[in-house]
Formats: sequence, structure tokens, C-alpha cells
Amino acid sequence: MANISIIALLCFIICVSSLLNYAYGAAEENMQYMVVGHVYCDTCRVEFETKLSEPLGGVVVKLECRNRTNEVITFQSPEIVANNHGDYHIIVEGDYEESDCDVALVRSPRVDCSDPTEAWRKTRVVLTTLDGLSGKLRFANNLGFKKDVALPQCTRILQEMGYYELSQEAGDFTLSSKL
Ligand SMILES: *[C@@H]1O[C@H](CO)[C@@H](O)[C@H](O)[C@H]1NC(C)=O
Repeated sequence: MANISIIALLCFIICVSSLLNYAYGAAEENMQYMVVGHVYCDTCRVEFETKLSEPLGGVVVKLECRNRTNEVITFQSPEIVANNHGDYHIIVEGDYEESDCDVALVRSPRVDCSDPTEAWRKTRVVLTTLDGLSGKLRFANNLGFKKDVALPQCTRILQEMGYYELSQEAGDFTLSSKL
């Protein structure tokens, strides 16, 4: 009698744990991520953010994942518009362990700030829990468009940051010609 109930109990435990495994596996399949990020106008044309950078509302961005091995698109978000603060969020369904996922700038609403920065025209986001990152919220690096002409205040700000002399020494064309 005692043996039978122990066996029944064992069966029950095995049953429940395999159900849980199933549910856990299914949860991973149905994983939903929220990618959040920010877009700014690089008013000094230096390809990094300064005190003078401005949030760029109305910018359109897009997230795309491609299979790392054969480059086939595995996920594509609709075009997403950043709010007045230059912030956006993108919902992604599924786990993309085998893909490289990037948020990319599509276009800017500001004619005077629509020159994509080389370094920040797109940024990689990790959309899997299988590499140790947990949680559904994923942060993308800030993306930026460059203003057509640098603001006059940039010289002072960059000097304060210690960049002006440095870049002049290096003969940086963008900095020395635009300022
Ligand atoms: C990615 O491509 C490889 C090679 O073609 C394939 O074996 C794999 O199943 C693909 N993965 C996904 C998630 O599509």
C-alpha cells in the first residue's frame, strides 16, 4: 500500500515536471522583447553626443534580424517613429539566438539634420536569453543624424571636453573645417 502511493507520487512528480519543462520551452518560443532606444541630432557633427546634441523626434527607425549563417531575414519590424523626446520602443516576438539584430535609422523629419552618422546609423541588439542576458527589456545604443552645419557654440563645448586640440592635432577634417 505504502509502495503504491510512493510510486503514484513519483509518477505525479515526473508528470508535473515534464509539463513544466514543456511550458518553459513554450515560453521561450513565445518570448517577447521590448527594445528601447533614443535618437539625437549631432549638432556638432562629431559622431558622438555632446551637451549640444538635441533629441530628434519623428525619426523613423527599423529593426531587422538576419540569420548569422545565411543572411536571410528572420525578423523585420514595421517602421517605428520616435516620440518628441527622440525615444522609441520596438516589440519583437521570438528568440533570435542565431540572428544578428540591428536597429537602423531610416529617415529624419528635419531637413537640416538628416545626414546619418557613420558610427551610429545602426546598432546591434541582443534578442535571446540563451546567452545569459535575461529580461525582456533590451537597450539599444543611441543613434544619431548629423546636422548640416555645426552650431557655433560647438567650438567652446568641444574645447571644454578636451577634444578640439586633440582633433586638430590629428588633422580631423570634419572638426576643423566645420568649426
Ligand atoms: C540559419 O541558417 C542556417 C544555415 O542555412 C540554418 O541551418 C538555420 O536553421 C537557420 N536558422 C534560422 C533560425 O533560420
